[in-house]
Amino acid sequence: MLVLGIETSCDETAAAVVKDGCEVLSNVVASQIDIHAETGGVVPEVAARAHVLEMVPVLKSALESAKVEIEEIDAIAVTKGPGLVSSLLVGTTAASTLALVGDKPVIPVNHIHSHIMANWLDREKNDFQFPILIVTVSGGHNEIFLMKDYGDFELVGETLDDAAGEAFDKVARMLGLGYPGGPIVSKMAEKGDPERFELPVVLLEKGSLDFSFSGLKTAVLNLVMSVDESERDEQFVADVCAVFQKSVVATFVEKVKRCLEKFDDVKEVHLTGGVSANQQLRAGLADFLEKRGIDFKFPKQIKYCTDNAAMIAACGYFMHCKEPEKYREWQNVVGDPRFLSG
Ligand code: KG4
Ligand code: ZN
Repeated sequence: MLVLGIETSCDETAAAVVKDGCEVLSNVVASQIDIHAETGGVVPEVAARAHVLEMVPVLKSALESAKVEIEEIDAIAVTKGPGLVSSLLVGTTAASTLALVGDKPVIPVNHIHSHIMANWLDREKNDFQFPILIVTVSGGHNEIFLMKDYGDFELVGETLDDAAGEAFDKVARMLGLGYPGGPIVSKMAEKGDPERFELPVVLLEKGSLDFSFSGLKTAVLNLVMSVDESERDEQFVADVCAVFQKSVVATFVEKVKRCLEKFDDVKEVHLTGGVSANQQLRAGLADFLEKRGIDFKFPKQIKYCTDNAAMIAACGYFMHCKEPEKYREWQNVVGDPRFLSG
C-alpha cells in the first residue's frame, strides 16, 4: 500500500511516500529554520504563509522522487494536530483536496503518535516486539507511552511544564547560540566539561514517571547570570551546555529505569522525536539498556527524528490497516474543529 504523508504542524512543510508503513520511497522537507532564526522562534502567521508557498512544490517533489503518480497513491495521511492551527490548516486542506479529487481515503494522524512510528521507517514490521516503552521528546512535547500493539498507546508519564527540546532551545537562547537550540547545544557540549558546575537533576517524587524541566532552565539562567558577561567566553558556554545536557540525560535514564521497574514485561525501549537526535542521550540510554539486555531503538536516520512526513505516512498506514473503512468519512471535514484537535 502506498501512502502519501503530509506534515505542516509547525515550521516544516513536508511530504513523503511510504510503502507498507516502513519503506520510504521519498521524504521531502522544506524547512523554515532560516525564517524563524531571525525571531528566535516560530511566529505562527509567518509559518502558515510559508507553508502555503511550499505545499505544492513539496508535494510534487515527493511524488517525483518516489517515481510515483498521484493516481497510484492508495491513501493520504495528514497531521491533524497537535500543532499550530493556521499551519495545520494548510496541510489538511491540501490532503482533503487531493483526497476528494482522487477519491482516496484521508487519514488524520496525531503528530505525537507519528513521531513514535518514525522508528518503523527503514525497518521490517517483524523487527518489533510488544510491549514497547516509548520515550518521545520534541520541542513541544515530552511523553512516555507504553505501546501494547499498533495504535494502542497508554500514556504513563509526561512533562508537567516544558519539554526537553524546549529547554534545549531556551538554554541556547540564554547563551546566545541561536535557533533551534538542540543541535547547537549538543555540539558545544562536546567541547565542555560536564563536571565544572552543579545543576539539578529533577526527578519529582519517588516513582514519578513525569518530567519537569522548568527548574533546570531557571538553574541554567541563574548560573549564566552569576557570571559577568565579560567572563562568558566560549569555554564557559561549552561547559554550561555539557552540564545541562548531562542533567537531561540523567533524568531520562532514571525515568526509563523507573518505568522498567513498574512494567517488567517491556521488550523494547524506543527513543523518538527531535531530541532523539541527541548523541549523548542515545549513548546514556543505550549503555543503561544494554546492561539490562533490553533492545533499544531510535530512528534509523537523523532526518526521521525531527518533523517529517514519512513518519506521518507510516502512522497513517498502520491506522488504515487496523480500520480500513473508517477513513472515507473524513474527506469533507476540513475546517471542522474536531479535525484539528490533538
Ligand atoms: O520533533 P521536532 O522536530 O519538533 C517538535 O515537534 O517539537 O523537535 C524539535 C526539537 C527542538 O526543540 C530541537 O532543539 C530539538 O528537537 N533537537 C535536539 C537535537 N536536534 C533537535 N535536541 C537535542 N539534541 C539534538 N541533537
Ligand atoms: Zn514533532
